[in-house]
Amino acid sequence: MIRGLCANPPAKNWYGAIVKFVFYLRPSYPLTDTECCRVGKESVLITLGYSSALLKFESHAGNSFSNTLKSCRNEKKESSVFSQRTEEASAVQYFQFYGCISQQQNMMQDFVRTATYHRAILQNHIDFRDKIVLDVGCGSGILSFFAVQAGARRVYAVEASSVAQYAEMLVKNNHLSDKIIVLPGKIEDISLPEAIDVIVSEPMGYMLFNERMLESYLHSKKWLKANGMMFPTFSDIHLAPFSDEQLYMEHYSRANFWHQQCFYGVNLSSLRGAAVDEYFRQPIVDTFDVRILMARTVKYTVNFMDAEEADLHRVEIPFVFQMTQSGLIHGLAFWFDVAFVGSVVTVWLSTAPTEPLTHWYQVRCLLHTPLFAKEGETLSGKVLFIANRRQSYDIHIVALVNQTGFRSGNILDLKNPFFR
Ligand SMILES: C[S@@+](CC[C@H](N)C(=O)[O-])C[C@H]1O[C@@H](n2cnc3c(N)ncnc32)[C@H](O)[C@@H]1O
Repeated sequence: MIRGLCANPPAKNWYGAIVKFVFYLRPSYPLTDTECCRVGKESVLITLGYSSALLKFESHAGNSFSNTLKSCRNEKKESSVFSQRTEEASAVQYFQFYGCISQQQNMMQDFVRTATYHRAILQNHIDFRDKIVLDVGCGSGILSFFAVQAGARRVYAVEASSVAQYAEMLVKNNHLSDKIIVLPGKIEDISLPEAIDVIVSEPMGYMLFNERMLESYLHSKKWLKANGMMFPTFSDIHLAPFSDEQLYMEHYSRANFWHQQCFYGVNLSSLRGAAVDEYFRQPIVDTFDVRILMARTVKYTVNFMDAEEADLHRVEIPFVFQMTQSGLIHGLAFWFDVAFVGSVVTVWLSTAPTEPLTHWYQVRCLLHTPLFAKEGETLSGKVLFIANRRQSYDIHIVALVNQTGFRSGNILDLKNPFFR
């Protein structure tokens, strides 16, 4: 169905004109599904599914128009940044998960998360008024609605899972089809007809990095104007050593199932070592009393304005902790904050253990062997996040008590956390 085509100002270049034309002929139609052919010297026929339109040009520009459209389509056929870095099976499972209304509801009902985004956008309404906004991974479209509430002129709401169809329903039902354009597809694959003033997104996973959606968020900057804004603007990941004997013993107890020598007459004990290894590879997602923390946190910042996708392929966080209490260190605790730096106010969304709980909880990584340290001693080492093709990270931790030379560490699989 054609709508609004004539109401639009002409785009600045042919590429923009093509995509804009495609949108208004049928919103969110993938460019790959278009057909075009020249009709005579000055006309081009474009077909999208069942809809066709004849474009007449005053000059021979039609030739360059149709060539550009063809080259756009060919570009799309090449594998995208996303598919190069992601196993197919992982992507299918991931987008099936987000295709569920219940999962979108789960995030929307995280009051701290949703209310903070709402506040960050509305309190900085001058950054949105009359602006062109991109919502990366719009899900239900909730952030796009917030952007419109703040006065956005137009919002491109990009969503790769099938929930895009529900976002479109919400847009129509809220009578905002003239403002919010839902584009089904991955941000790495879609084309936009114009440059963007503000990018909004909620790309944070457990321990910040899980899902590798931050890379998609950074990728979307290719559409951002030179003076554009990112909402959120930067993120701090915090880490601190903790002591929790009970947690440590719990992990061993679970593995001790495999210690049995007569389970219905079967000796399981040869697998106990493998079970211990598997359990210890799991980062633990839960919350805790901050009194288990044994030092002030170390902070690592990812600035979304400056960072590039490749910066997140390998993230190394060196640490030196000055112990504030004596005892056994069982591992490192992690959480993150994100900041929305607007022209009016900077708003923080925190997942710290001192703040109201969110659906991200906090995450703890156990050391294979606990380390004893005294107050005043230093624990140094590093955490290395190495991205994998399962949209997650392998986490390598090495730690050393400098005064005694005691060392420990662990390698964990962020894709497979333990929800405690
Ligand atoms: C954490 S949810 C946030 C949903 C919504 N923005 C909100 O705040 O409620 C992330 C969404 O981004 C989508 N997504 C993840 N990677 C994407 C990509 N590369 N391109 C487009 N959408 C993506 C997911 O399918 C999911 O719906």
